[in-house]
Amino acid sequence: MVAGVAVRADRLGDAGYAEAAGRLFGSVTPENEIKWQPTEPEPGRFSFEAADRIVDFARSHGQRVRGHALVWHLQLPPWVSGSLEEMRRHIEGVVGHYRGRVAEWDVVNEALSDDGRFRPTPFLRELGPAYIARAFRIARAADPQARLVYNDYGAESPGTPKGKALYRLVKGLVQLRVPVDAIGFQTHVDLRPIPGFERQLRRIAALGVDVALTEVDVRLPESAGPEELEAQAVAYRRIVEACLAVERCRSITFWGLDDGDSWIPEFFPGSGHALLIDEDLRPKPAYEAVRRALG
Ligand code: XIL
Repeated sequence: MVAGVAVRADRLGDAGYAEAAGRLFGSVTPENEIKWQPTEPEPGRFSFEAADRIVDFARSHGQRVRGHALVWHLQLPPWVSGSLEEMRRHIEGVVGHYRGRVAEWDVVNEALSDDGRFRPTPFLRELGPAYIARAFRIARAADPQARLVYNDYGAESPGTPKGKALYRLVKGLVQLRVPVDAIGFQTHVDLRPIPGFERQLRRIAALGVDVALTEVDVRLPESAGPEELEAQAVAYRRIVEACLAVERCRSITFWGLDDGDSWIPEFFPGSGHALLIDEDLRPKPAYEAVRRALG
């Protein structure tokens, strides 16, 4: 089991941050730096400076890198129309630059809406749902050694429209022999239990792919005290146990090192404290719970 963390290039100069990120985790994911906007801000002009700093950091700490994310509707430059030509140039440009250095790519991110339909993105509009298969085939050719992942959020339960849609999507991709190696479950959750999580991991894996937890955080109310921190430890332990119970679940990535960096307060106003380590880099009860569960 590999434990990973999302990191930010601009924090690597902070000695405490860098020491903890380098020592505690076997894998890193650039939180924003390999997305389309920062890597190809203008058509065909690539820029890898910030992402390279993270990839170099990972190499010097013997860590693997998850590349996140090639085809996504957010953090997308305004000029992207969704054409095949643009998608091909982007995937070839980015995957080509990192060939042999990035072990795994989130090739397509969040292609499903909460109602289970395909999300209306520029790529869907231009190419139809076949853009997903296209993206994977292009990525495979650009780096045949890299593992290719379909990544999404809110599909952690088998009974929801999105949980069912993910199952159908993966089944279809496997039937068409699309080169998808794994399905990533982002797992951005709160304290409520995730109904059927282990069953969902298991039945998706049974279609013939690996599964991974790729962006885990468990948000609390801003006002959380010791009791909520204990409940958070339990929630984290359950998440880790669900992955450990499924043979093809091989990695868990936490979406940030510490509460001081987490995206949660900005995107879920009123929530926070979502990670394993607090903003002063002190381990929280959740950290101990995860450490114990992972052995
Ligand atoms: C988030 C980052 O954490 C933020 O810093 C950024 O402002 C917005 O994106 N799903 C994903 C991630 O796949 O890329 C998102 O990351 C969180 C939700």
